[in-house]
Amino acid sequence: MTTHTERVLSGMRPTGKLHLGHYHGVLKNWVALQDEYPCLFFVADWHALTTHYEETRDIEHFTIDMLIDWLAAGIDPEKATLFIQSKIVQHAELHLLLSMMTPLSWLERVPTYRDQIEKLAGRDLATYGFLGYPLLMSADILIYRADKVPVGEDQIPHIEFTRELARRFNHMYGSEPDFEEKAKAAAKKMGGRAARRLEELRVRFRQEGDAAALIEARAILREAGSLSQTDRERLAGYLEGTGKTILPEPTALLTDASRMPGIDGQKMSKSYGNTISLREDEVSVIQKIRRMPTDPSRVRRSDVGDPEKCPVWRLHLVYSDDACREWAQKACRTAGIGCLECKQPVIDAILAEQGPMRERARAYIDKPSRVREIIEEGNAKARRLAEECMEDVRNAMSLNHG
Ligand code: TRP
Ligand code: SF4
Repeated sequence: MTTHTERVLSGMRPTGKLHLGHYHGVLKNWVALQDEYPCLFFVADWHALTTHYEETRDIEHFTIDMLIDWLAAGIDPEKATLFIQSKIVQHAELHLLLSMMTPLSWLERVPTYRDQIEKLAGRDLATYGFLGYPLLMSADILIYRADKVPVGEDQIPHIEFTRELARRFNHMYGSEPDFEEKAKAAAKKMGGRAARRLEELRVRFRQEGDAAALIEARAILREAGSLSQTDRERLAGYLEGTGKTILPEPTALLTDASRMPGIDGQKMSKSYGNTISLREDEVSVIQKIRRMPTDPSRVRRSDVGDPEKCPVWRLHLVYSDDACREWAQKACRTAGIGCLECKQPVIDAILAEQGPMRERARAYIDKPSRVREIIEEGNAKARRLAEECMEDVRNAMSLNHG
């Protein structure tokens, strides 16, 4: 059971099979969140196109591989909603509408824009889609009225951009013609007493500028458990005279950067070629760890070593308990063990971590139709939520033509 009502949303570009760095950095966090919040996790396949528009061939199988990795890591489709961005066309509609009111200068000054162009110097990124990367991300987030968005540090400017854009949108289109009636109907849902009290406090705040009245009124709203997010926002706007919040501002849930080292001691990353994939074959895991470099001054078995200079030690810090670390440290510094012996507990721990993942993945690999079912269910649910939001957006922008 989830313990919160706020909605969590996050996405990942389909870059193919995930590795243990993704697991320790992102997926473990998602798995924990799904027990606390209603969660939406999606494959950002359109975002992959912003940099790789010339090579679309791999997108579909990268998407499936990645989804199987999520499921293998313990993302539970009974708890979280999994979907594919491009299957929810409403994202594109919101992206288009937002693009009309997004100042170019806001996009140009997002720090990742220039950074990425420099970093990916081999590609022609002077495209409209690439400039719009943060805007598409804003549409992904705002369309689900997500409250919390778990992301790494590099994505924080995009969340900030999203917040500014939501504010601009609400300010521009946040006055519904029947706003007052809707707000009053929402108040009724809190029950007669609370509604009357809220109205008293509203008048005191709006007519006499009574700040204490506003504080009390906000507390009443916060505690009114029966209100939907939309009604709560609507009442807040009514109370404070700011109109309706059509697109609530999300907040970032900063994911701790993964300290997962690769098999060369640098941060684990596909571009360094130092990864162990989530469901890597056992033999290959054993080989990779056995061949890992160690403290270069430990040439012979009888040479003492220094764990601080050894990449294997960094894996002990991720995988071993205190007793095992103590054993490895001491024995390394006194040449009491050989490096292969020291590596064995790390190998065992990685294999133990991967065991259940491999097993969960097996069920989906044997029955690919199950993955398709999960995605179709997730897509349908996401589409319903996205369409609900778009109806409000179209209404607010007078594009309903009804
Ligand atoms: N830009 C994100 C990344 O590269 C992926 C992403 C796309 C995303 N849309 C999103 C993340 C919406 C969170 C919310 O990691
Ligand atoms: Fe590294 Fe362990 Fe060998 Fe020491 S004994 S150098 S910590 S692998």
